[in-house]
Amino acid sequence: MAFETPILAPSLLAADFTRLGEEINQCLSSNIRWLHCDIMDGHFVPNISYGPFIVNAVCRAAPETFLDVHLMIENPDQYVDAFAEAGANLITVHYETCPHLHRTIQHIKSLGCQTGVAINPATSIDLLYPILPDVDMVLVMSVNPGFGGQSFIESAFQKVYKLNAVRKQLNLNYLIEVDGGVQKKNATELIRKGADVLVAGSSVFKKESIPNAIQDLRAKMNAGRADMV
Ligand code: DX5
Ligand code: ZN
Repeated sequence: MAFETPILAPSLLAADFTRLGEEINQCLSSNIRWLHCDIMDGHFVPNISYGPFIVNAVCRAAPETFLDVHLMIENPDQYVDAFAEAGANLITVHYETCPHLHRTIQHIKSLGCQTGVAINPATSIDLLYPILPDVDMVLVMSVNPGFGGQSFIESAFQKVYKLNAVRKQLNLNYLIEVDGGVQKKNATELIRKGADVLVAGSSVFKKESIPNAIQDLRAKMNAGRADMV
Protein backbone atom coordinates (compact mmCIF):
# COMPACT_ATOMS: atom_id res chain seq x y z
CA MET A 1 0.00 0.00 0.00
CA ALA A 2 1.53 3.30 -1.02
CA PHE A 3 0.53 6.52 0.71
CA GLU A 4 1.16 10.11 -0.11
CA THR A 5 3.34 11.61 2.60
CA PRO A 6 3.31 13.39 4.97
CA ILE A 7 0.84 11.19 6.82
CA LEU A 8 -1.08 12.22 9.93
CA ALA A 9 -1.86 9.22 12.15
CA PRO A 10 -4.29 10.08 14.98
CA SER A 11 -3.55 8.08 18.13
CA LEU A 12 -6.75 6.51 19.45
CA LEU A 13 -5.38 6.52 23.00
CA ALA A 14 -6.66 10.08 23.32
CA ALA A 15 -10.10 9.33 21.87
CA ASP A 16 -13.28 9.16 23.90
CA PHE A 17 -13.80 5.40 24.11
CA THR A 18 -17.50 5.78 24.83
CA ARG A 19 -17.77 7.30 21.34
CA LEU A 20 -14.91 5.53 19.58
CA GLY A 21 -16.80 4.67 16.37
CA GLU A 22 -18.07 8.23 16.05
CA GLU A 23 -14.62 9.76 16.58
CA ILE A 24 -13.08 7.33 14.08
CA ASN A 25 -15.73 8.38 11.56
CA GLN A 26 -14.83 12.03 12.08
CA CYS A 27 -11.23 11.14 11.25
CA LEU A 28 -12.28 9.22 8.16
CA SER A 29 -14.42 12.13 6.96
CA SER A 30 -11.30 14.27 7.21
CA ASN A 31 -9.50 11.85 4.89
CA ILE A 32 -7.41 10.19 7.56
CA ARG A 33 -5.85 7.04 6.07
CA TRP A 34 -3.81 5.81 9.08
CA LEU A 35 -4.89 5.23 12.67
CA HIS A 36 -2.30 4.66 15.40
CA CYS A 37 -3.05 2.07 18.11
CA ASP A 38 -0.99 2.26 21.32
CA ILE A 39 -0.67 -1.05 23.11
CA MET A 40 0.66 -0.83 26.69
CA ASP A 41 1.22 -3.70 29.08
CA GLY A 42 1.96 -2.13 32.47
CA HIS A 43 5.46 -3.69 32.38
CA PHE A 44 7.52 -2.10 29.63
CA VAL A 45 5.57 1.10 30.22
CA PRO A 46 3.80 2.16 33.41
CA ASN A 47 0.32 2.09 31.93
CA ILE A 48 -2.16 -0.41 30.50
CA SER A 49 -4.21 0.44 27.42
CA TYR A 50 -5.95 -2.14 25.26
CA GLY A 51 -5.26 -5.27 23.24
CA PRO A 52 -6.17 -7.12 20.02
CA PHE A 53 -9.88 -7.09 20.84
CA ILE A 54 -10.08 -3.29 20.46
CA VAL A 55 -7.71 -3.28 17.48
CA ASN A 56 -10.12 -5.67 15.79
CA ALA A 57 -13.08 -3.42 16.66
CA VAL A 58 -11.21 -0.50 15.04
CA CYS A 59 -10.48 -2.68 12.02
CA ARG A 60 -14.17 -3.49 11.64
CA ALA A 61 -15.16 0.17 12.11
CA ALA A 62 -12.59 1.33 9.54
CA PRO A 63 -11.81 -1.59 7.23
CA GLU A 64 -10.10 0.57 4.59
CA THR A 65 -7.86 2.32 7.11
CA PHE A 66 -4.20 1.43 7.62
CA LEU A 67 -3.78 0.26 11.22
CA ASP A 68 -0.44 1.29 12.64
CA VAL A 69 -0.01 -0.77 15.81
CA HIS A 70 2.64 0.38 18.29
CA LEU A 71 3.53 -2.36 20.77
CA MET A 72 4.88 -0.96 24.04
CA ILE A 73 4.98 -4.41 25.58
CA GLU A 74 7.48 -6.93 26.85
CA ASN A 75 7.74 -10.17 24.89
CA PRO A 76 6.16 -8.83 21.71
CA ASP A 77 6.83 -12.16 19.92
CA GLN A 78 4.18 -13.72 22.07
CA TYR A 79 1.50 -11.31 20.85
CA VAL A 80 2.26 -10.28 17.26
CA ASP A 81 0.19 -13.12 15.78
CA ALA A 82 -2.86 -11.93 17.71
CA PHE A 83 -2.42 -8.34 16.49
CA ALA A 84 -1.91 -9.47 12.89
CA GLU A 85 -5.05 -11.56 13.19
CA ALA A 86 -6.91 -8.56 14.64
CA GLY A 87 -6.17 -6.54 11.50
CA ALA A 88 -2.89 -4.68 12.06
CA ASN A 89 -1.27 -3.53 8.82
CA LEU A 90 2.00 -2.47 10.40
CA ILE A 91 3.38 -3.67 13.73
CA THR A 92 6.08 -1.68 15.48
CA VAL A 93 8.13 -3.17 18.30
CA HIS A 94 10.52 -1.36 20.61
CA TYR A 95 14.24 -1.89 20.19
CA GLU A 96 14.41 -1.96 24.00
CA THR A 97 12.10 -4.98 24.27
CA CYS A 98 13.66 -7.22 21.60
CA PRO A 99 16.87 -9.11 22.35
CA HIS A 100 16.45 -10.88 18.99
CA LEU A 101 15.15 -7.97 16.98
CA HIS A 102 15.96 -9.44 13.57
CA ARG A 103 13.99 -12.58 14.39
CA THR A 104 11.06 -10.56 15.68
CA ILE A 105 10.97 -8.41 12.54
CA GLN A 106 11.05 -11.53 10.34
CA HIS A 107 8.25 -13.01 12.42
CA ILE A 108 6.06 -9.93 11.82
CA LYS A 109 6.83 -10.06 8.08
CA SER A 110 5.89 -13.74 7.95
CA LEU A 111 2.42 -12.73 9.18
CA GLY A 112 1.98 -10.46 6.16
CA CYS A 113 2.34 -7.20 8.11
CA GLN A 114 4.67 -4.28 7.54
CA THR A 115 7.32 -3.83 10.20
CA GLY A 116 8.49 -0.99 12.41
CA VAL A 117 11.11 -0.48 15.08
CA ALA A 118 10.67 2.17 17.80
CA ILE A 119 13.24 3.81 20.04
CA ASN A 120 12.80 5.61 23.33
CA PRO A 121 14.14 9.14 23.79
CA ALA A 122 17.26 7.84 25.59
CA THR A 123 18.13 5.25 22.91
CA SER A 124 20.59 6.17 20.18
CA ILE A 125 19.63 5.71 16.53
CA ASP A 126 23.12 4.31 15.93
CA LEU A 127 21.90 1.03 17.45
CA LEU A 128 19.42 0.66 14.60
CA TYR A 129 21.88 0.55 11.70
CA PRO A 130 21.93 -3.25 11.29
CA ILE A 131 18.14 -3.50 11.15
CA LEU A 132 17.37 -0.48 8.93
CA PRO A 133 17.34 -2.47 5.65
CA ASP A 134 14.74 -4.85 7.12
CA VAL A 135 12.09 -2.44 8.38
CA ASP A 136 9.34 -0.43 6.71
CA MET A 137 9.32 2.24 9.40
CA VAL A 138 11.40 3.71 12.21
CA LEU A 139 9.39 5.27 15.04
CA VAL A 140 11.15 8.01 16.98
CA MET A 141 9.57 8.44 20.40
CA SER A 142 9.46 12.10 21.32
CA VAL A 143 8.13 11.40 24.84
CA ASN A 144 8.86 8.57 27.24
CA PRO A 145 6.20 6.07 26.20
CA GLY A 146 3.28 5.28 28.45
CA PHE A 147 0.97 8.26 28.42
CA GLY A 148 -0.64 10.71 26.05
CA GLY A 149 -0.49 14.44 26.59
CA GLN A 150 3.21 14.74 27.52
CA SER A 151 5.61 17.45 26.36
CA PHE A 152 7.67 16.94 23.24
CA ILE A 153 11.36 16.12 23.84
CA GLU A 154 13.43 18.22 21.44
CA SER A 155 16.17 15.65 20.80
CA ALA A 156 13.73 13.95 18.41
CA PHE A 157 14.49 16.62 15.78
CA GLN A 158 18.11 15.56 15.50
CA LYS A 159 17.19 11.87 15.37
CA VAL A 160 14.77 12.50 12.50
CA TYR A 161 17.35 14.56 10.67
CA LYS A 162 19.97 11.82 10.99
CA LEU A 163 17.60 9.02 10.04
CA ASN A 164 16.67 10.97 6.92
CA ALA A 165 20.34 11.51 6.03
CA VAL A 166 21.13 7.83 6.58
CA ARG A 167 18.14 6.80 4.49
CA LYS A 168 19.43 8.83 1.55
CA GLN A 169 23.01 7.71 2.05
CA LEU A 170 22.11 4.00 2.15
CA ASN A 171 19.37 4.31 -0.45
CA LEU A 172 16.73 2.82 1.87
CA ASN A 173 12.98 3.40 1.93
CA TYR A 174 11.82 3.20 5.55
CA LEU A 175 9.30 5.75 6.72
CA ILE A 176 10.21 7.96 9.67
CA GLU A 177 7.42 8.34 12.23
CA VAL A 178 7.40 10.63 15.25
CA ASP A 179 5.19 9.91 18.25
CA GLY A 180 4.52 11.97 21.37
CA GLY A 181 3.75 15.62 22.00
CA VAL A 182 3.20 16.38 18.31
CA GLN A 183 1.43 19.69 17.94
CA LYS A 184 1.01 22.57 15.53
CA LYS A 185 4.14 24.23 16.92
CA ASN A 186 6.52 21.34 16.06
CA ALA A 187 4.80 19.68 13.06
CA THR A 188 6.37 21.87 10.37
CA GLU A 189 9.90 21.43 11.67
CA LEU A 190 9.50 17.65 12.04
CA ILE A 191 8.48 17.31 8.39
CA ARG A 192 11.23 19.68 7.33
CA LYS A 193 13.77 17.49 9.12
CA GLY A 194 12.53 14.41 7.21
CA ALA A 195 9.62 12.87 9.13
CA ASP A 196 6.93 11.17 7.00
CA VAL A 197 4.35 10.17 9.60
CA LEU A 198 3.28 12.21 12.62
CA VAL A 199 1.26 10.57 15.37
CA ALA A 200 -1.06 12.94 17.20
CA GLY A 201 -3.26 12.04 20.16
CA SER A 202 -4.18 15.05 22.29
CA SER A 203 -3.72 17.52 19.46
CA VAL A 204 -6.48 15.74 17.51
CA PHE A 205 -8.90 14.23 20.03
CA LYS A 206 -8.65 16.65 22.94
CA LYS A 207 -9.49 19.63 20.76
CA GLU A 208 -12.96 21.11 20.40
CA SER A 209 -13.30 20.01 16.80
CA ILE A 210 -11.54 16.91 15.44
CA PRO A 211 -11.89 17.99 11.77
CA ASN A 212 -10.47 21.45 12.52
CA ALA A 213 -7.60 19.99 14.53
CA ILE A 214 -6.74 17.64 11.65
CA GLN A 215 -6.92 20.47 9.15
CA ASP A 216 -4.64 22.69 11.27
CA LEU A 217 -2.03 19.97 11.77
CA ARG A 218 -2.09 19.05 8.09
CA ALA A 219 -1.51 22.66 7.10
CA LYS A 220 1.56 22.80 9.35
CA MET A 221 2.84 19.49 7.98
CA ASN A 222 2.37 20.57 4.38
CA ALA A 223 4.27 23.77 5.10
CA GLY A 224 7.22 21.64 6.19
CA ARG A 225 7.04 19.53 3.05
CA ALA A 226 6.89 22.63 0.84
CA ASP A 227 10.10 23.88 2.48
CA MET A 228 11.89 20.66 1.52
CA VAL A 229 11.40 20.92 -2.24
C1 DX5 B 1 2.81 7.45 24.06
C2 DX5 B 1 2.08 6.91 22.84
C3 DX5 B 1 1.60 7.99 21.93
C4 DX5 B 1 0.60 8.90 22.54
C5 DX5 B 1 0.67 10.22 21.82
O1 DX5 B 1 3.25 6.40 24.82
O2 DX5 B 1 2.92 6.07 22.09
O3 DX5 B 1 1.12 7.46 20.69
O4 DX5 B 1 -0.70 8.40 22.48
O5 DX5 B 1 -0.16 11.09 22.48
P1 DX5 B 1 0.05 12.67 22.45
O6 DX5 B 1 -0.04 13.06 21.00
O7 DX5 B 1 -1.07 13.18 23.27
O8 DX5 B 1 1.41 12.93 23.00
ZN1 ZN C 1 2.35 5.38 19.90
